[in-house]
Amino acid sequence: MRTVTLPDGTQVPALGQGTWHMGERGNAAKAEVAALKLGIELGMTLIDTAEMYGNGGAEEVVAEASTGHRDKLFIVSKVYPHNASRDGVPAACERSLKRLRTDRIDLYLLHWQGSHPLSDTVEAFEKLRAAGKIRYWGVSNFDTRDMQGLVRLPHGADCATNQVLYHIGSRGIEFELLPWCVEHKMPVMAYSPVGQGGSLLRSKALAAVAKRHDATPAQIAIAWTMRHANVISIPKASEPSHVRQNAAAGGISLTEADLAEIDAAHPPPSRKQSLDIS
Ligand SMILES: NC(=O)c1ccc[n+]([C@@H]2O[C@H](COP(=O)([O-])OP(=O)(O)OC[C@H]3O[C@@H](n4cnc5c(N)ncnc54)[C@H](OP(=O)(O)O)[C@@H]3O)[C@@H](O)[C@H]2O)c1
Repeated sequence: MRTVTLPDGTQVPALGQGTWHMGERGNAAKAEVAALKLGIELGMTLIDTAEMYGNGGAEEVVAEASTGHRDKLFIVSKVYPHNASRDGVPAACERSLKRLRTDRIDLYLLHWQGSHPLSDTVEAFEKLRAAGKIRYWGVSNFDTRDMQGLVRLPHGADCATNQVLYHIGSRGIEFELLPWCVEHKMPVMAYSPVGQGGSLLRSKALAAVAKRHDATPAQIAIAWTMRHANVISIPKASEPSHVRQNAAAGGISLTEADLAEIDAAHPPPSRKQSLDIS
């Protein structure tokens, strides 16, 4: 599995598994656990979850899938903005640790910016890190200006990542945010890399490139997000055939001609755009 480098030099998998909408329905949990386990066996050992997903249910699904594998996993979870106060962060983290049935979260993110002062959130993250409850912290849905404000705070520059929407149909971050993160040696985590399985997968350009690689449009969409050395892609799949496809996407290298064809149909941004969140 290809890796991406965190600011301290640690390598993490460039391809992981999302869990949004898992843990929402009790009768689906068994299949969701099996899907995550399959993904782990196929090398997708980075798992992205959040206290929000399934109201904690997704973290419980991750716990079940982690059984016997914890040491090889890199688990990412997120705190709600309304819990991101000095006291709220450690309390939320304890609840997540309990649901995840683990003693540490590898990467803990602020899900999006809310009304609590960011300096309080960073202070709370740093305390959790010192206590060994989390290994790294980061943010999500932060635009360039938010990142610039963050790194000016005490310890703000210790942020390990920014997780944002990024797929072939939503390339706004390429104009400013992605270069900014590269300059600050912070990987970007691309969420919704297959556009939530929607109309993006019917793109003619994706279909043409997929045909050349004997792959599916979703695989090309994932390989495309991973073409950048600084991007971690986290597709979510509950369907075993999707999990297998997504794991194999990590091995697809797109050619200059493939990238040009995709650019022609889904052009890169020519000016700053505000950050997409859906
Ligand atoms: N930080 C944030 O604010 C934020 C926001 C959104 C998402 N995220 C994270 O990013 C993860 C991924 O994003 P997402 O769940 O929004 O969207 P996504 O990964 O782009 O798409 C997931 C959907 O695509 C389908 N799919 C997956 N692989 C496929 C394949 N090979 N072929 C066809 N369809 C496929 C899935 O179906 P099945 O499940 O039926 O297999 C599911 O319906 C989330 O799960 C979550 O962990 C974070």
